[in-house]
Formats: sequence, C-alpha cells, structure tokens
Amino acid sequence: MTDQKFTDWMARQQARAEQALEAALPAAGLGPARLHEAMRYTTLGGGKRVRPLLAFAAAELAGGQPATADAVACALECIHVYSLVHDDMPCMDDDSLRRGKPTVHVQYDEATALLVGDALQTLAFDLLSAPGLFERSDRQLRALHTLARASGSRGMAGGQAIDLASVGRDITLAELEVMHLHKTGALIRAAVLLGALCGDLDEAGLDQLDHYARSIGLLFQVVDDILDATADTATLGKTAGKDAAHNKPTYVSLLGLVEARALASSLAENADAALAGFGAQAQRLRELTHYIVSRQF
Ligand code: IPE
Ligand code: IPE
Ligand code: MG
Ligand code: MG
Ligand code: MG
Repeated sequence: MTDQKFTDWMARQQARAEQALEAALPAAGLGPARLHEAMRYTTLGGGKRVRPLLAFAAAELAGGQPATADAVACALECIHVYSLVHDDMPCMDDDSLRRGKPTVHVQYDEATALLVGDALQTLAFDLLSAPGLFERSDRQLRALHTLARASGSRGMAGGQAIDLASVGRDITLAELEVMHLHKTGALIRAAVLLGALCGDLDEAGLDQLDHYARSIGLLFQVVDDILDATADTATLGKTAGKDAAHNKPTYVSLLGLVEARALASSLAENADAALAGFGAQAQRLRELTHYIVSRQF
C-alpha cells in the first residue's frame, strides 16, 4: 500500500514540476509558433514526472534551494521528453501514442518532432546554465557536466543506439543491463545527483546517493519492460506489447515475467540498502523506490 502522505507529496511535487515547466517553456504564441506550440503540447499536462520527483526528493535531503531544484527538475524533464519524442519517431520505435495523446510526429510532422527534440535538449542546458542559479558555481558546473554525460552517446543516446542495434538479436543479460543502464538508467541516475548537487552534501553522501540512483535507474527500465508485456494501452497511455511486436530484447524476453519481477524486487532492496546511512532524511527517496517498483503505468 502506498502511504497517503506520500501520494499527497507526489501530487504536490508533480504540480510544482508542471508549473515550473509552464514558466520555463517559450510561450505558445511566440514565434516560431508551431515549434513552440509543439514543445508545449508534448511537455505539459502529462507524464509521471519521475525525474523531477527524484530531483526534488534529493534536493530536499541535501538542503538545496527550491528555486534551484525547480530549474534542475525542468532541465531533466526537458531531456526526458526530448528522448521520448525522438524514441517515438518512425525511424526508432514508430509509436503513435504517448501520454495518452498522439505523438508529436503524428500530431504535427516528423520535421517538427525532430526540432522539438533538438530544442528541448538545448532548453535543458539553457535553464541549467543560468548565471547564479546555484549557490555554489562548482556544483552548477558539475550538474551541467553530469547532465551532458547522462544524455549523450555515453548515456541515454548511446543506450538508444544499443537498443536499435539489438532488435531481433539474442543478446546476453550483461549486454541487456548495459543497454538499460544507458538508455534509461543514466538520466534517472543524473536526476538524483543533480537534485543532491542543489545542496552541499559531501562526497561520501553524494556517493551513497549514487549507489541508490544506479539501482533505481535500472529498476525503472525493468519495470517498463514488465509493463509493456502486462499492462494495457489505455492504462499506459502508450502502445502496450510493442517490445515483443518489434522483437526487442527485454528483461521479460530474456528472463520471463516471474524472474523479471524478482529482479525488480532485488533492485528495489539494493536501492533501499544504499540509503541506510541517511535514516529518516531519505524517506521520500525510499517511497519513490516503492512507487517505481509497484507502479501500474
Ligand atoms: C518512459 O519513461 C520511457 C523510459 C525511459 C522507460 P516514463 O515512464 O518516465 O514516461 P513518462 O514521463 O511518465 O511519460
Ligand atoms: C525508451 O525506452 C528509453 C528512452 C530513452 C526514451 P522505451 O522505448 O522502452 O520507452 P517507451 O516504452 O517507448 O516509453
Ligand atoms: Mg525505445
Ligand atoms: Mg519506445
Ligand atoms: Mg518501453
């Protein structure tokens, strides 16, 4: 059972992320209007906002300023949404439904989807590099570096390349783990670290959080694989069953459902163990692990 207080906290933080994104995105009427409208169409009013939630919880733990955490959350969500827009394009997963709405290339066109991704990616770095955003400029630089690494060819984009190259192939569990740690794990991991960098936690504390973050990053995609195979399209707000239909290697195709679920539980335990040193301060992060492992969409 998810705690009511956590559910309330989550709803408040999701509303906070929505408000911050609303303010950070270019106004709909601002030219080029079609591009800006499409950026708002795909970013606002949907999604679970898991990366902002993780950043807010980590910033709270580290004593970061809320305004800094807001910008960090927006930057993370912009990278994430860009990755979804491109992931759905015909040259990648070719999906027509995302967050319960037609995907950007369906609602607009392919060139717009490409540009929405490009523009959201650079907006993320625009927001994160704002002068004076962090109390400590060394931490701001580190946050920028961490986000860039997590998004590029050694992070999310690299993972997406491995994903595409793995279609229809028999890959090993170790290869699957590398793929998932990159395509999804890297940005989730960055979300926790960037949140923590808003405050002034010491290196040992950042390192402990990084162990937590690595586990939930992988966990997040294991659960995504399970839901693709078990949930329905209406619940997910995206096409169910497409991994099998597209011959994608996943934790479900390699391990079967029972073992994939057992792996998810053990990753959640690892994540909890990594937070042991923080005591009650890490309660939100623990609750987020529980949410990620038990989510239905
Ligand atoms: C879906 O991410 C794509 C993956 C990286 C697994 P989410 O499940 O976080 O999607 P939204 O943001 O809630 O729509
Ligand atoms: C997406 O993985 C990872 C990204 C970087 C977007 P999936 O292709 O499994 O994500 P969904 O299932 O379409 O959301
Ligand atoms: Mg994909
Ligand atoms: Mg996809
Ligand atoms: Mg998926």
